[in-house]
Amino acid sequence: MTIYRATVLDTPGELGDTDGLRAEEDCALVVHDGVIVARTDPARARAAWPDDDVVDLRDGLLLPGFVDTHVHFPQVRAIGGLGMPLLDWLRECALPEEIRLADPGYARAVARDFLSGLTRSGTTTALVFGSHFPAAVDVLFAQAEAVGLRVTSGLVLSDRVLPAELLQTPADALAAGRELAARWHGRGRLRYAVTPRFSLSTTDEMLEVCAALLADGGDGRWFTTHLNENPDEIAQVAAFFPDAADYLDSYDRHGLVTERSVFAHDVHPTDRELAVLAGAGAAVAHCPTSNSSLGSGLFPLRRHLDAGVRVALGSDVGAGTGFCLLKEGLQAYFMQRLLGPAGVALGPADLLHLATRSGAQALGLADDVGDLSPGKQLDAVWVRPQAGGTLEVALRHASSPTDALAKLFSLGTPADVVAVWVGGDPVAEARPEPVAAETQETS
Ligand code: GUN
Ligand code: ZN
Repeated sequence: MTIYRATVLDTPGELGDTDGLRAEEDCALVVHDGVIVARTDPARARAAWPDDDVVDLRDGLLLPGFVDTHVHFPQVRAIGGLGMPLLDWLRECALPEEIRLADPGYARAVARDFLSGLTRSGTTTALVFGSHFPAAVDVLFAQAEAVGLRVTSGLVLSDRVLPAELLQTPADALAAGRELAARWHGRGRLRYAVTPRFSLSTTDEMLEVCAALLADGGDGRWFTTHLNENPDEIAQVAAFFPDAADYLDSYDRHGLVTERSVFAHDVHPTDRELAVLAGAGAAVAHCPTSNSSLGSGLFPLRRHLDAGVRVALGSDVGAGTGFCLLKEGLQAYFMQRLLGPAGVALGPADLLHLATRSGAQALGLADDVGDLSPGKQLDAVWVRPQAGGTLEVALRHASSPTDALAKLFSLGTPADVVAVWVGGDPVAEARPEPVAAETQETS
């Protein structure tokens, strides 16, 4: 048993709940085998477990680990390609870098950069767009397992439009996908996601392979891809699939829209698509800095929520401008403000929900992670800003926990993340030096 003593902020309810923020100053989380077995005050915890270690995290804030529902492993070194719309950015910036992952040595170095980017930002769970190369996907899974993160990922599939180096035949994709899924799905904290890049770069034959990969698992594999990101992309998809009702239908005709499906972006949906997504229980990964950087548009969150579509946050690195979901939350807030009356007035608790529990719900993991209730795993991020820095000053003068959370989303960066746990295990890569949480007796 270990007792973690901290100011704990989490959002155990539903997105949009009034009073959605649960904030407890000097709260004791009692953890056994990585699971929170009690949440109480320190005196009671000490009385019940007099001989167990106490980790003192009272300086700063303890939040649930962040859940990133859309992030590209091969694009960590492509962050910062500003000034282009989607299809130009793919051609000029992202795809040339993705081709380099054909070299497993290069892929190993990129995987290290990628996983350290996630952990240093406080992300403990991610749905990761993998690589087009099976060996690079193996590298990612192996390193994610070593670091201890909860990663769902898979081989990225394409059989047209992209540079030849990134294309597979449907038959090769089926064989490689089967092998990778058999090796990694359900191993520890890892799961496999069938991942066509987007229907612009996948024929019906390849999408049928995706359906086969989902069906032959029978073991809860996931599905992720891109949807309705950019008007030029949408027009080209319509030309490739003249019989489809819309972009979503290019996937739905193959049975790929289910409660285990996560679609990135959906900036320009039709009402029909929203109804189909809601009916299927599929989720959408909203990627605010990516949508801003590529000029993709202002995400219609109100229309998604009104239609009953589940929404979570994605960093979409490398079109997104970094791994930190605090920044994505703030950008989501800005974009809803810019929509005026059509936007959703997101409060600080909503931003935390989007960055944590909404993501866990979208990925089917909400029974285990996403908040810090008893029965959940200790997936947590400890934020403790440097003394004298603007965030530290702001938190010291916060008028309430909600105000503190607003200040954290406004000012927080990966530099303020000092420790991260997944399933109660400290994640060493979360910062340059090993975690140095003091243990001390409670009084
Ligand atoms: N659509 C297809 N591939 C990509 C990608 O890598 N990034 C983004 N933002 N959209 C895509
Ligand atoms: Zn993406």
